[in-house]
This record gives sequence, structure tokens and C-alpha cells, in this order.
Amino acid sequence: MSSALDHPEYNYSVVRQFAIMTVVWGIVGMTVGVLIAAQLAWPALNFDLPWLSYGRLRPLHTNAVIFAFGGCALMASAFYVVQRTCRVRLISDGLAAFVFWGWQLVIVLAAVTLPLGITSAKEYAELEWPIDILITVVWVAFAVVFFGTIAKRTINHIYVANWFFGALIIGVAVLHIFNSLALPVSLTKSYSVYAGSMDAMMQWWYGHNAVGFFLTAGFLGIMYYFVPKQADRPVYSYRLSIVHFWALIAIYVWAGPHHLHYSSLPDWAQSLGMVMSLVLLAPSWGGMINGIMTLSGAWDKLRTDPILKFLIVSLSFYGMSTFEGPMMSIKTVNALSHNTDWTVGHVHSGALGWVAMVSIGAMYHLIPLLFGRKQGEMYSVRLINLHFWLATLGTVLYIASMWVNGLMQGLMWRATNADGTLTYSFIESVEASYPGYYIRALGGSIFLAGMLVMAYNVWRTTTGTETRTEPAPATPLAVGRA
Ligand code: HEM
Ligand code: HEM
Repeated sequence: MSSALDHPEYNYSVVRQFAIMTVVWGIVGMTVGVLIAAQLAWPALNFDLPWLSYGRLRPLHTNAVIFAFGGCALMASAFYVVQRTCRVRLISDGLAAFVFWGWQLVIVLAAVTLPLGITSAKEYAELEWPIDILITVVWVAFAVVFFGTIAKRTINHIYVANWFFGALIIGVAVLHIFNSLALPVSLTKSYSVYAGSMDAMMQWWYGHNAVGFFLTAGFLGIMYYFVPKQADRPVYSYRLSIVHFWALIAIYVWAGPHHLHYSSLPDWAQSLGMVMSLVLLAPSWGGMINGIMTLSGAWDKLRTDPILKFLIVSLSFYGMSTFEGPMMSIKTVNALSHNTDWTVGHVHSGALGWVAMVSIGAMYHLIPLLFGRKQGEMYSVRLINLHFWLATLGTVLYIASMWVNGLMQGLMWRATNADGTLTYSFIESVEASYPGYYIRALGGSIFLAGMLVMAYNVWRTTTGTETRTEPAPATPLAVGRA
């Protein structure tokens, strides 16, 4: 396997920049995650400072992990994959550099405005209107570079990963523009053009499709390129990947109302959201099976290749969260789960187990190639393996503690005495949640520790020519060349 530097005809500098920033923003976003997890366990950590308070740091966490960490992973991969599969350089180096610096500026502006309490108060769309306009400009530039490169391709076929990246780009553009329509009253304050139930419906049409197109479609693009590459096998079924693509994007857009069960949204819309969410199980699992079965006949590689472990375990978490999501969208189940920590557990089985793990796997594949080394030639393969186990343990502790908390909270809130009064006060359910919050903070810290191990390994890989010589373990751990 050749190094990426053997292909000077491609623009790898922008891919390198996004790949490094994926690791940097991952650490920043998850550090804030650990801090807010700790604040829920030890409220004194709010330090009575408004800009360090939970309410301001929580959106900083979600924006940093989704748009900074996830966004950089997506842009690094999209720019890499589109060049490799279309066999052509990005159409404009200048525009690609604008996408990189513009996106970093958006992130820095978010990191400044959110702790200051400047927010539109729409979840995952908190940034105020001037930043929203900047996001639109950068995103359009991203679209121009990506689709322009596809248009200039030297091979006829458009590989399926590009279809998913394309859906990400178009889907997020439409969602962002329509949900963010607002009337500015000052530089830092605006009001949504929608009101009441209409505003709620727009917000969750956006919110759910941010999951569908940002946290799912884009990362499936990563999956469809990096799993076959790392396994060195063709994708299990190309036909299934096409069915998967069209079914997923056709169904996702209808499922948003499952966030608004028992609200003032018309009942038929809630039921439609529920039914579409149940149907969504099929394409989601089709994609998961397609990814996992790519290893069919080569399962032994899982024993020896920790990068493949990241990729395949991420698909297992994807399967798990896309089973759990449809179940939670059933109205009677949602009556128990809504507003409890169960939702937070579901979110992080998708976010840590799927989004973070697939991104980490892809970055371990990419980074050696981008810095003049061969595939799999990170400074230390053992440290990748250590990272894999820290990430898995951290994720499991996080989601299991939230499931226990969520079920307990839901059951305590609905428990009634024989005379119809509530058995528990709300504060009793909060007290009972503390053990879960301690375990979640521990799980998050372990996941973050794994990211620090990754940063060290990436730093040694990118700055030196040396590769650690590691003694052959009793059970093979290392990928061939390390
Ligand atoms: C070290 C890792 C992480 C820790 C410790 C952590 C911790 C937290 C905490 C404490 C919350 C607030 C929960 C609440 O309001 O009750 C939260 C929310 C959230 N986090 Fe994380 N997080 C981590 C990683 C991630 C990653 C990698 C992503 C996405 C890729 C993510 C996405 C989210 C989202 C979307 C929410 C909002 C959930 C909701 O509204 O239900 N987190 N996180
Ligand atoms: C078939 C796929 C899925 C379905 C049908 C689904 C369904 C649901 C449902 C019913 C909720 C709870 C809504 C509520 O009670 O407020 C929810 C919340 C959420 N899900 Fe999923 N889910 C799916 C996959 C995923 C994946 C793969 C991820 C992440 C990568 C994810 C991220 C989230 C987030 C961030 C929330 C919390 C939204 C909030 O309240 O802030 N979901 N999902």
C-alpha cells in the first residue's frame, strides 16, 4: 500500500488540517463533556460563575463535539474520499482553504459566544444570526468544492460514499437555512420567524435530521469508504448500499415529530413520526449489516487490527442505537423515556459508540497516510489497541449508567399511591440519580483518556519517522507493519 504523499496530484494539505483538528476539537469537546458530567455529580463545580455554569457549557459541549469534532472528521474524510474515488484533485485549493479556516472561525465564535450566554435557544442551532450566516457561506463553499470535484471526475462511476457525503451537504444546508430563519433585533439577539407548535415542529424537523444527515449520513459515508479499505475487501453488497442510501434519506425526513410526543403538535403528526421511525429500523440495519458483513470471510482480521475493531464496534453501536431509537419513538415507551437520562444514554450510544468510534478509526487509517507513512503505520499500534479498550469501556459505563438512571427516573415519576398521590417527590428522583452521575463522569473520563492517548500517538506519528518496535504479544495485537 502506498503512502498518500505518492500522489502529489491530490490536495492533501486541507485533509491533514481537518484530520489534526478532529483530534484537537475531540479533546476540547469531550473535556467540556466531562466537566458538565462532573457538574451534575458535584454542583459546586459551577463555581458560581455564569460563564462556567452548566446551562452555558452544555450547548458548548454539544456544538463542540458535533460540529467541531464531528464536522472536522466529516470534512477531512469527504475531501479525501472524493479525490481518491473520483481520481481528480479538489477543484480549488483556495476555496478548500476557505472552508477550513471559515469552519475554524465558526467554532471559535461558538466557543466565545455560548459561554457569554449569547444564544438563540434552539437546541443544536444555538448560534446567533451573524454566525449562522457565516456557517451558510462556508457550507456553500464546501458544497461547491465537493460537487465541483465530482463534476470533474475522471471516472464515470460515483462511489456510494460520495452519495452519503452529498446527502450530508444538501440535507444540512436545507435544514440549517430554514430552521435558522430569524428576525435580528441586535447583533447578538434574534427571534425565530416561527412561533408556537410551528416553531417546535421546525426545530425538531431540523434536530432529528441533524441526527439523520449530520450524525448518520455523513458518518455512513466514512463507513462505506474506510471499512472496505481497512479490511482490504470490497463492500459486502453494492446493491444493498444503494437501497440503503435511498431508503434512509427518504424516510429520515419524516421522523422528527417523535421528539414532540404528547405535545401540542397535532396527534396525526406525532403518529406519523412514530411510524416512520419504526420503518427507519430497516434501512439502518441494512447499512449496519452491509458494513459488518464486509468482513465476511476475514473475521480473523478483527483479532489483529485495532483500527478495524474501532470501525466494526462502531457499527455495532450504530445498530444498537438505531434499534433503541425506533423503540423510544413508540408513544407508550416515550411516555416513560422522555425527559429522563434514558434519552441521554441513547444519544451517547450513538455519539460515542458510533460517531466518535467510526471517526477515530478513520483518522487512524488516514493520519499515517497523510504524513508520508504506510497504511496502519501509526507510531504505536499497541496504543491504538489501548485506546480502543478505553473507548469501549468508557462508552459502556456511560450508557449503562444512563439507562439505569433513565428507567429509574421514569418509573419513580409515574409511581402513585393507592389514593392517587405521587409516591416520590421530584427531588427524591434526583437524589437517586447520583450514583449514575458518578459512573457517567468516570466513563466520560476514561473515554477522554483514550483521546489523549490518541493525541500522543498522532503527535509521535506526525513529527517523527520512528515507529515503536513492539514485542510480538502472546495473542497477536499488532497490524502487520508496526
Ligand atoms: C467524554 C465524552 C463525553 C461526555 C463525558 C459527555 C457528557 C455529556 C453530558 C453530561 C451531557 C448533558 C446530559 C444532560 O443534559 O443530562 C451531554 C449531552 C450531549 N452530548 Fe455528550 N458527552 C461526551 C461526548 C459526546 C460526543 C462525542 C458527542 C457527539 C458526537 C456528544 C453529544 C451530545 C449531545 C447531542 C448531547 C445532548 C443530549 C440531549 O439533549 O439529550 N457527546 N454530554
Ligand atoms: C433509527 C434511528 C433512530 C431513531 C428512530 C431515533 C429516535 C429517537 C427518539 C425517539 C428520541 C427521543 C426523543 C425524546 O423523547 O425527546 C431520540 C433522541 C435523540 N437521538 Fe435518536 N434515534 C435514532 C438514531 C440515533 C442516532 C444514530 C443518533 C446519534 C448518532 C441519535 C441521536 C439522538 C439525539 C442527539 C437525541 C436527543 C435529542 C434531544 O432531545 O436533544 N439517534 N432519538
